[in-house]
Amino acid sequence: MSEAQPAKLPDNIFDGPWTRNPKIVDLNDLDSFVHGVPHDALDAIRAQYPMYWNEEKRDWGPGFWNLTRYEDIVEVSRNTGTFSSDAGINISFPPDVEPAVINAVIGNMITMDPPEHRTYRNIAKPFFSTRSVTSLEARVRELARGIVADAVKKVRDTGSCDVMTDIAAPLPISVLCDILGVPHEDWKKIFDWSNELIGIFDPDLCPDPEGATATFMELFTYGQHLVAERRKSPRDDLMTAIAVAKTEDGEGIPEHLLNGFFLLMVVAGNETTRNSITGGLHALIENPSQRDRLVQHPTILPTAVEEILRWVSPVSHMRRTALCDSTIGGHPVAEGDKVVMWYGAGNRDPSVFDRPRTFDVTRDPNPHLAFGIGEHFCLGSRLARLQLKVIFEELLRVVPTFDFSLTGDVRYVRTNFINGIKAMPATFTPVR
Ligand code: HEM
Repeated sequence: MSEAQPAKLPDNIFDGPWTRNPKIVDLNDLDSFVHGVPHDALDAIRAQYPMYWNEEKRDWGPGFWNLTRYEDIVEVSRNTGTFSSDAGINISFPPDVEPAVINAVIGNMITMDPPEHRTYRNIAKPFFSTRSVTSLEARVRELARGIVADAVKKVRDTGSCDVMTDIAAPLPISVLCDILGVPHEDWKKIFDWSNELIGIFDPDLCPDPEGATATFMELFTYGQHLVAERRKSPRDDLMTAIAVAKTEDGEGIPEHLLNGFFLLMVVAGNETTRNSITGGLHALIENPSQRDRLVQHPTILPTAVEEILRWVSPVSHMRRTALCDSTIGGHPVAEGDKVVMWYGAGNRDPSVFDRPRTFDVTRDPNPHLAFGIGEHFCLGSRLARLQLKVIFEELLRVVPTFDFSLTGDVRYVRTNFINGIKAMPATFTPVR
């Protein structure tokens, strides 16, 4: 896209000279991700440039460092005093984005540093405790059974289904809407908004990028409406907890942080779990010997789920910003430098994982970083693990041979932020 074109959310491709190290791949060119995460390039980067500099398009930012080694990702994630989330966890923002959108995108717990971060995390924490999540199992199973039954019907009626649309996507959004307290009639609306926002640079998911600001605003207005309702009549749901929460100075949460909270929940809890289900099924289709092991020994499902999380690494990256001159793995970084951690690359680091490019459903130990590590370790990790366990149990119950096979091309979301599959047509043989 040329600089002269009108302002809208443009592609962020750098086309000038590569200054600090040779170019292996442009990690800010979303087309580098349309066939999935470019693991060969990330492996090459890890082997040659532990701190790989990626240029950024003019007006967007000066460029950013990229971390692909496991230990470096751990070091940066744990050192919140030097590597801050406060300036944002995405690589860059287009210069022309609506301020309310920026405020919400960077106005939530995931983009806060301690001690403020803890205040906001603590508001939501009780809803994701072991006790709360355990109590959700029966409901998650009920939802999963209904979803699998609908997919079976579709396969019987038409011969195939789409794993993303018919199996993976409905569960996380339903569970999330339940926890938030979104009424059932609005679930579809939330689902469509979240799809559009995550696929903002993908013409299939968001045909009108200029309309994306309007979608953000609709989502915020909807969240504010729920908050207002809950302040009038509180219930036992996460929206009520947010609506009535007081910060340390005794004030309610300011409006832009309410927007940010709602946005974070809708995006963080939804796309990630969905892509683990789709990516996990894809990995099992591509590795029939591993699928057979799971079918013959279903008790290994817990290690299979961890391997799916490592393999898919549904969140591709998170960013930090250096607050002072420092080092990472002995390499210097300057105050203000952006540092991007590539979880899928850390999860394939051969110094930590034996045969890292092999999908092994019995891998143990498996200290993957799919949920991050340290201060911002995923708040929803227990809930995500529960959903993965339940949906694969239900699939194994209804498709005991697990003979899933693709009936068309797997297509990836055009984004460098999540490892997302947008279409995965498949068929299978359900029990009679
Ligand atoms: C497989 C599914 C999931 C994956 C791979 C995943 C991944 C991640 C990662 C990598 C982070 C760390 C961010 C950082 O260090 O900057 C994170 C944070 C977070 N996740 Fe998840 N997530 C998943 C599911 C969920 C679910 C189901 C929810 C809630 C419904 C959720 C809510 C959050 C929240 C609120 C944070 C921010 C925590 C904080 O800042 O303290 N996630 N997630």
